[in-house]
Amino acid sequence: MGLKEKGLAVMTFGCQMNEYDSERIGGILSQEGFQLTENLEEAQVILLNTCSVREKAEQKFYSQLGRLAEVKRKSPSLIIGVGGCIAQREGERIFDRASHVDLVFGTQNLSRLPVLLRKVIETRAGVADVTREEKSEAPYLIQRESHVKAWVAIMQGCNNFCSYCVVPTTRGPQRSRSNRQIMEEIEGLIRENYKEVTLLGQNVNAYGQDLPEEINFAVLLSLVNGVKSIERIRFVTSHPKDLSDELIDAMATLPKVCEHLHLPVQCGSDKILNLMNRGYKAEEYQEKIGRLKALIPHIGLSTDLIVGFPGEEEEDFAATRELVKTIQYDSIYLFKYSPRPDTTAAVFSNPVPEKIKQERFQEILTLQKEIALRKNREIEGTVVDVLVEGRSKRDAEKLTGRTRSNKIVNFYGHQDMVGRLVKLEIVKGKLYSLEGRLLN
Ligand code: SAH
Ligand code: SF4
Ligand code: F3S
Repeated sequence: MGLKEKGLAVMTFGCQMNEYDSERIGGILSQEGFQLTENLEEAQVILLNTCSVREKAEQKFYSQLGRLAEVKRKSPSLIIGVGGCIAQREGERIFDRASHVDLVFGTQNLSRLPVLLRKVIETRAGVADVTREEKSEAPYLIQRESHVKAWVAIMQGCNNFCSYCVVPTTRGPQRSRSNRQIMEEIEGLIRENYKEVTLLGQNVNAYGQDLPEEINFAVLLSLVNGVKSIERIRFVTSHPKDLSDELIDAMATLPKVCEHLHLPVQCGSDKILNLMNRGYKAEEYQEKIGRLKALIPHIGLSTDLIVGFPGEEEEDFAATRELVKTIQYDSIYLFKYSPRPDTTAAVFSNPVPEKIKQERFQEILTLQKEIALRKNREIEGTVVDVLVEGRSKRDAEKLTGRTRSNKIVNFYGHQDMVGRLVKLEIVKGKLYSLEGRLLN
């Protein structure tokens, strides 16, 4: 390819799907002889996998890209590529904003990367391609970061068009992978000794609705549950409107499916849920949570919330606050509404002033901190199974892993425990993690 040494750095912004896509980029380009590196100075090619979900995510990317202009001035042969959701939306407009970018690729044409990169090297001109590749049964090439837990995409795209959200535009319509393709990827994980798999998609519980065969997400879960050496199954993200009783039953009965559900509610007011085009009412959501709690008593629950959506009045916000109090989530990903280009909500009237958004954000944050801390303290003294993922980033003396309910536990242990399930007593519940003690 005309590159003597082929160091490749991939910088990832955004969600787990982007993390997974970056692992695919690593897999595809390592077949072309590239060596992944985290050191930008060793890289001949730097690819930025971008996120467009909120304005802040975009700003983060553009300031990173700005810093790379200096790096490129020092070594002009460096190739800079931009992929992901901003690239998909902006296409070659990226070149106008940043002339040091050589390549723009999309969210749906990763397998064309080798061809596109070759073109950049041969022509030394900017190349932009954000077209969608044909659906293929070919296995994904993936260089995974973790050796313990693996992500497996079961679908791409989203059909929901929540009024605030860019994802259906940046990722395209929902395309489920065939269960054969998914199971092949998971079988491949067994050979490499993976213990945990997380099934990924923007709306996993709508899996199969776009396939000709009779299959749904609950059935897929039972297939994965049958894979021998996989010990734990997780999945993100689920949409409340597609959470069927069949799926709740599957979660309650399939032994490997972990007792955790991330179920974004977004807000507690029906008026706002309707404006968001979410397709459910707060009461229906609460009923489903009630069923989950009844059938899976120790279930860990998490959610996404947006405060300050256009038209959110004090009483709407109060409904959100009440919902948070009633449900008692283990964790919340809380966001201030951020208007996005090409979404229907971008032109909605009655924007909420920034000051009020900030106050509401702070109020939920404070409330949730109390709830999370209390819930984590409640499990002090209990014994949990933890899948050990590696050394703790904060304290290299300790190992870290997660409970089935998805709580992070740090504890003193031996390196050879990484990749294994261990029993721990919870000795301390903190805000975002637990401290454990190894039981023999
Ligand atoms: N498909 C997933 C992920 C969507 S993005 C899902 O439906 O959950 C993750 C979260 O970002 C969303 O759940 C939502 O809470 C938040 N989000 C999306 N667009 C946003 C916007 N314009 N402003 C603020 N938060 C947003
Ligand atoms: Fe966006 Fe809604 Fe699709 Fe999630 S379900 S990706 S929030 S449109
Ligand atoms: Fe961001 Fe795209 Fe994911 S907008 S959240 S990287 S699907």
